[in-house]
Amino acid sequence: MDNKRIIIAIDGHSSCGKSTFAKLIAARLGYIFIDTGAMYRAVTLYALEHGAITSGIVDDEAVAVMLGDIHIDFRFNPERGASDIYVNGDLVEGKIRTIEVSNCVSAVSSIAAVREKLVAMQQEMGRKRGVVMDGRDIGTVVFPEAELKIYMTADPMVRAERRYKELTEKGDRVTLEEIYENVVSRDKADTTRKISPLRKADDAIVLDNSHMTLEEQMEWFSEQYRRVING
Ligand code: DC
Repeated sequence: MDNKRIIIAIDGHSSCGKSTFAKLIAARLGYIFIDTGAMYRAVTLYALEHGAITSGIVDDEAVAVMLGDIHIDFRFNPERGASDIYVNGDLVEGKIRTIEVSNCVSAVSSIAAVREKLVAMQQEMGRKRGVVMDGRDIGTVVFPEAELKIYMTADPMVRAERRYKELTEKGDRVTLEEIYENVVSRDKADTTRKISPLRKADDAIVLDNSHMTLEEQMEWFSEQYRRVING
């Protein structure tokens, strides 16, 4: 057991298993896990439900104005072994993962005011260290001083198949084709947006998990973690 509590930043493409990986790491280390994508999704859901998105078109100014009315918090759910996300006291964990939210979240997350508010919240949540945070800009913007930065990726079709399985198992009626299109278009939007685009931090280590089991990924992680702690 070591006493050195660090910040672990995990960035990467959508649907490559960042949250599953990050959650497991956090559980093993006794760290807090923060899924920052859930925060962008929660703002998107709120915007959808409050008229700031019509026919897929996001009204940036309306979303910026709404930010003051959106209170996000995480509450630990022992059944899941992870935290659920709440907006203004309502549990929205299930509602933020729909294809409707996925289709609008890139546009919402490219609004400067949205990023400013959520980045400040994330920095506050990691202040005491001992966190595993996953997202797109954690190692580059939120915690550039993180001791361990991981950049995750996987083949786009492998990612689409994983998300398709996840959604159809939940009973969502989606096609593999539409999921694949969403994965590819989000990659493009996330890496080309003006503010805080997804990019590998210079000191991040790459994990391509296209052909790796979760167990193999955890073994890989243990080595990296040991290197940082002993280094
Ligand atoms: O990780 P996810 O797929 O649930 O994230 C949803 C979207 O939120 C993703 O398309 C980009 C955005 N996002 C972001 O811009 N910055 C983050 N730190 C996390 C997510």
